[in-house]
Amino acid sequence: MVDKILIVEDLRKYYPIRRSLSEILMFKRGRYVRAVDGVSFYVNDGEVYCIVGESGCGKTTTGRLVTKLIEPTGGVIRYKPSSALARINNEFVVGGYVDYRRLPKKYVKLLRREVQIIFQDPYGSLDPRQTIYSILEEPLVIHGIGNDRKEREELIFKVLEDVKLSPPEEFINRYPHMLSGGQRQRVNIARALILGPKLVVADEPVSMLDVSVRAEILQLMMDLKISRGLTYVFITHDLAVANYICDRVAVMYLGKIVEEADMLKLVNEPLHPYTKALISAVPEPNPSNRFKIREVPIVGEVPSAAAVPPGCRFHPRCPYVMDVCRREEPPIKDVGGNHLVACWLY
Ligand SMILES: Nc1ncnc2c1ncn2[C@@H]1O[C@H](COP(=O)(O)OP(=O)(O)OP(=O)(O)O)[C@@H](O)[C@H]1O
Ligand code: SF4
Ligand SMILES: [Mg+2]
Repeated sequence: MVDKILIVEDLRKYYPIRRSLSEILMFKRGRYVRAVDGVSFYVNDGEVYCIVGESGCGKTTTGRLVTKLIEPTGGVIRYKPSSALARINNEFVVGGYVDYRRLPKKYVKLLRREVQIIFQDPYGSLDPRQTIYSILEEPLVIHGIGNDRKEREELIFKVLEDVKLSPPEEFINRYPHMLSGGQRQRVNIARALILGPKLVVADEPVSMLDVSVRAEILQLMMDLKISRGLTYVFITHDLAVANYICDRVAVMYLGKIVEEADMLKLVNEPLHPYTKALISAVPEPNPSNRFKIREVPIVGEVPSAAAVPPGCRFHPRCPYVMDVCRREEPPIKDVGGNHLVACWLY
């Protein structure tokens, strides 16, 4: 049986909205942006777990919570460590899992070695004043990896070779502006990999790249997954990209997972009206016609995460809305074969 490397239960992240003076004077209660609003999922060791959804549905927030860059409002995140963290016999490792809530600050660094993130923006996420060498050396120095410059150089050269920036000598003294978008994203990937992580959250890693280099970067990520034994949480708004790389996929809408299934099952037998609408919006990606194009009329824009509709949060836009949908939130349930859906139709 495959181990679960990550378990997330009822994860929530709410951001308080500043009240206006009149709201304060009228004793109105504070409101919140419910960026992530009760999300549960697990990721198997070695798989590519995808999170898809439109802008603002909470994908990045989920990724940042999983990498412990931000703290949750509620819920549980458990990670199965495999190196130094696993050897620490302490109360924060329960049943072989690190419980993020219990992890003392002094051990967060060890978690960072194992759980890394690749950011969306290859232009903004690299310091323009640092050379590629110093961008890659920095995490090694912070984490005390490599006894001397020579050892660190070996690691830097190895990771540059791995991301196909070869020969490394040609790249180490360059600055980010001297690289193409695709090359910069390779540096971003190298930076995420240099500490030897097991779990990598990739937040829209190809969405800002030219279409011509997207497939190359995705292929590189798949090669690295095998050669370095990685597990990915892959975040994208693009179902065609998800279809290319993912094993299982979760569809998020306004801070919640509304459907989850194996990738093939989801594109061939989508159940949730929102998923059907997303698939109908994907242009036919190739001649084999993987996506069956369906016409699902979906009205309006995604509501604000500060004003989540009552009942089913998709109901104002759903062509199949029923009375119960306006009153009660549908629980997510398994309709068979690990296909989960949150909709009163099922
Ligand atoms: N630091 C913050 N303070 C207040 N609201 C925030 C903050 N970060 C995110 N949000 C809000 O939380 C919601 C989810 O944001 P998030 O960035 O996670 O969405 P996303 O799915 O990654 O969107 P995109 O596809 O545009 O990247 C949005 O409504 C966003 O405005
Ligand atoms: S619960 Fe109702 S409103 Fe929500 S997606 Fe299902 S049918 Fe549509
Ligand atoms: Mg995002």
